[in-house]
Amino acid sequence: MQDTPDAPSETGHSLDPDDWSAFRKRAHSMLDAAIDHVESARDRPVWTPVPDDIKAAIAEPLPMDPQGTDKVCEDLLTQVLPYATGNTHPRFSGWVHGSGAPGGIIAEAMASAMNSNLGGRDHGANYIEHQVINWMKTMFDFPSTSSGLVVSGTSIATVIALSAARYAKADYDIRKQGVRTDKRRLVGYASSEAHSCIARAFDMLGLGIDALRTVPVNDAYEMDIPALRRAIEKDLAAGHQPFCVVGSPATVNTGAIDDLNAISEVCQEHDLWFHVDGAFGAIAAMNDNLKPRFTGIERADSIAFDFHKWVHVQYDAGCVLIRREDLHRKAFTLRPEYLTAAPRGLAGGNPWFCEYGPELSRGFRALKVWFHLKEHGMHKILQKVEDNCQQAVYLGALVEANPHLELLTPVSLNICCFRFVAPAMDDAALNRLNEEIVMRLQESGVAAPSTTKLNGQLAIRVNITNHRVTKSDFDLLVKEAVKLGKECTV
Ligand SMILES: Cc1ncc(COP(=O)(O)O)c(C=O)c1O
Repeated sequence: MQDTPDAPSETGHSLDPDDWSAFRKRAHSMLDAAIDHVESARDRPVWTPVPDDIKAAIAEPLPMDPQGTDKVCEDLLTQVLPYATGNTHPRFSGWVHGSGAPGGIIAEAMASAMNSNLGGRDHGANYIEHQVINWMKTMFDFPSTSSGLVVSGTSIATVIALSAARYAKADYDIRKQGVRTDKRRLVGYASSEAHSCIARAFDMLGLGIDALRTVPVNDAYEMDIPALRRAIEKDLAAGHQPFCVVGSPATVNTGAIDDLNAISEVCQEHDLWFHVDGAFGAIAAMNDNLKPRFTGIERADSIAFDFHKWVHVQYDAGCVLIRREDLHRKAFTLRPEYLTAAPRGLAGGNPWFCEYGPELSRGFRALKVWFHLKEHGMHKILQKVEDNCQQAVYLGALVEANPHLELLTPVSLNICCFRFVAPAMDDAALNRLNEEIVMRLQESGVAAPSTTKLNGQLAIRVNITNHRVTKSDFDLLVKEAVKLGKECTV
C-alpha cells in the first residue's frame, strides 16, 4: 500500500518539508557552509569563546511552534558554527583531540539520512560495523574469532572491556549476584599515569575505585614493572583476587609507553586479564617505524581505542576489541522475547550488537569510520601519526634551544610538556604564570595547548594529534608563549 506523498496524517502533515525543493536548496547551502568551515579552519582564531548575547539567544524557551528550516539554519550559522572547540585548526594541541576530516561531513549526512539503529536485526548498516571491526581485528593481529564494538569513545570501551574481564575472572556469576563482599575482593592495576577512565570503569562496575591499585612509574613515567609484581603479591597475601592489569601504549600526560610485553608476561603468570588503554597510543603502534616500541600489544585480552583521536574520524567514534567473543557476549547478553532473533527477515542477523555492550539503540557511527578508512587508507593516516611524533621532537628541540623555556620531560611520542621560566620565581609562582600563558594563548586565538602537572610543576602541554599542523605552527607557538611569558613578568 502506497501513501500519497503529501497525505496528511490523522492530526496534520508529517515532519517532512512542505516544499522539498526549498529544503534541498537550503540543505545544499548548509553543506557549502560546512565545507567552507573546514576549508578555512586555518584562517580563524583557534578558539572563539561564546559571547554573552549568543548564550542568551541560545537560552530561548522550548519551541512549541515551528520556527521553520530557514530560521533554524540561520541560528545554526550564527549561534553554533562559529564557536566550535577549535580542534579542526592546525594550532589546536590541547588534551587529545583529533582534527576530523572533510569526508566525515558526507558520511554523517548519509548516516543521518539512513537513520539506522544498529542494536541488531538484519540490515546494511550492521555489515559496515562488522567490516570496521574485522579491519581492526586484522590491524591489531587479533584472531578472526574475536569480537568488538564501535562505541562513543575509549571511556565506554573501557567499561565494556573491564566488564568482560570482571565476568571472566570472578569465580561466581557476578552478573546475577552482583559484586559479593563475602568473596575475595577483585582488584586490578594501572599506573599512576593511567587515564581516569579506568578508575571510572572500576567505579561503574561496582568494584570501587580503591580496587584499582595505583602502580608507581619510573623516571620516564612508564609503569614500574617490579612495583606491579610487588602490588600483586601484596594483594594475594592479603587474600584479594587480582583480576586485571591495564597497560597504556601512550599515557595522556606525556605519551609515555608502558612495557606492554612485560605486563602481558605478568598477566600470564598470574592468570590476569590484560587490557590495553590504547585511546591514541594503539594507533601509533600500527606504524611500522614506531611498532617495535609497542611489542606486546598483540597479546592483549582487550583493547580500547579511539577513531576520533589519531585516526581523525569526526567525534565521536571509538572501539573495543575483545579476544574471547564468548566472554564478551556472556558479559552482556540479555535477550527477552521482544528482542528474539528470527531465522529470516528483518529480525534475523544474529548475533546482534546489543549483546556486546550496554546499549540497545545504537547509531551508525561505523559509517564515518568505514568512509574515512576507505577514503584515506591506513598508510596515509599512519604517516600523519609519524609526522606528529617528529613534530613533537622538533618542538622539544625549540624549547631546549630557548633560554626562557624548560622542557619538563623528554619527548616520548607526540606530546611535549614545557614551561616558561623566569629567575627568582618558585614553582608555585611559575605554575600560576604558565597557567596564565596558556589561557592567554587560547583567548588570543593563536594556539590552544592545554596544561597538566608533572611532579607538581604546571606544564604547557602540547599534544600533537593533528593532520593539518606544520612545523612553522610550533615556531609561532614558541614565539607567542615566550612573548606572553615576558609580558606577564614585567
Ligand atoms: C590515554 C587515554 N585513555 C582514555 C581516554 C578517554 O577517551 P575518550 O575521551 O574517547 O573516552 C583518553 C582521552 O584523552 C586518553 O588520552
